Amino acid sequence: MKEFLSVKNLVKNYGDFCAVDDLSFSVGEREIFGLLGPNGAGKSTTMNVITSLCDFGKGSVMVDGMDIVKDKEKARRVIGMVPQEIALYPFLNAEENVKFFASLYGLKGKELNSAAREALEFVGLSDRAKMKPKKMSGGMKRRLNIACGIAHHPKLIIMDEPTVGVDAQSREHILGSIKTLRERGATVIYTSHYMNEVEDICDRIAIIDHGRFVACGTEQELISTVSDSKVLKISTEIRSDYPVNELIAELSGLPDVRKARIDENEIILEINASRKDFTLFIEHIQKHGLPICGITSESMNLEDVFIALTGRELR
Ligand SMILES: Nc1ncnc2c1ncn2[C@@H]1O[C@H](COP(=O)(O)OP(=O)(O)OP(=O)(O)O)[C@@H](O)[C@H]1O
Ligand SMILES: [Mg+2]
Repeated sequence: MKEFLSVKNLVKNYGDFCAVDDLSFSVGEREIFGLLGPNGAGKSTTMNVITSLCDFGKGSVMVDGMDIVKDKEKARRVIGMVPQEIALYPFLNAEENVKFFASLYGLKGKELNSAAREALEFVGLSDRAKMKPKKMSGGMKRRLNIACGIAHHPKLIIMDEPTVGVDAQSREHILGSIKTLRERGATVIYTSHYMNEVEDICDRIAIIDHGRFVACGTEQELISTVSDSKVLKISTEIRSDYPVNELIAELSGLPDVRKARIDENEIILEINASRKDFTLFIEHIQKHGLPICGITSESMNLEDVFIALTGRELR
């Protein structure tokens, strides 16, 4: 995959405080790349540096082969930013807001009109084109905020928590739109506190904490850095006088089983994550005359990975 963005050894200080501390990562062309980290981790600061909204102390940032310091004006033109704080002009209507932001990237005349129309349609606000932000709901403002960031067809779209405060339907719409933008050729950097969104749309994820790099990879790669086991739960019906210890001892000795235990009517096996076929375990349980009422297999999720790597919860 061609590299589209490269951040190398980035350092950003606010006075004595180091908000981004030697951060490096790269994003491939047409990738949806997630930045995950708790409040204050340095996500917005990193995004603001990439879009040249704030300066930085050390390191380098290259976008589409351009250095964001040396080729600042050219680099800015290929980037679209959807900021965490909604940035709209209250006295301009939806269409005028989109046109204002798109005109900053040099669009004018017919091209500007059609770009604004297309962006409003894209976020599902065509019928609100003449409405001013102050009359819009929070979710509509979020969607308008997105339209303003993408109207000029940027190659790199940076979205900082674009779904905060939107309802489930708007969220689905926004997540679907991000996938469509990628299909049209865009590269996307995405932050969110909603773990399921990141799991759903991001190809790779970088976890940062206290401005520092913690880990990076696909969801599966991140999971395997902290655990190579998964949990199998088999529901059954066990009489109170049933000799469970015998069954536990037998299951514990089976290949790929690390731990076996029983919790009321549930047999819980911790097994190697690579094990895909559960027939052997089922056969042994059935041999003991126990019914199989249900089976679930649980791997770690990103939240578990985050806690394992940073020692804290995301929120
Ligand atoms: N303009 C500023 N002046 C001083 N400190 C700042 C400034 N902007 C951010 N910071 C500090 O830098 C750190 C990183 O902030 P940043 O906004 O990048 O975090 P974040 O990961 O985006 O957090 P959140 O999830 O809350 O949006 C925080 O400790 C914050 O207080
Ligand atoms: Mg932020």
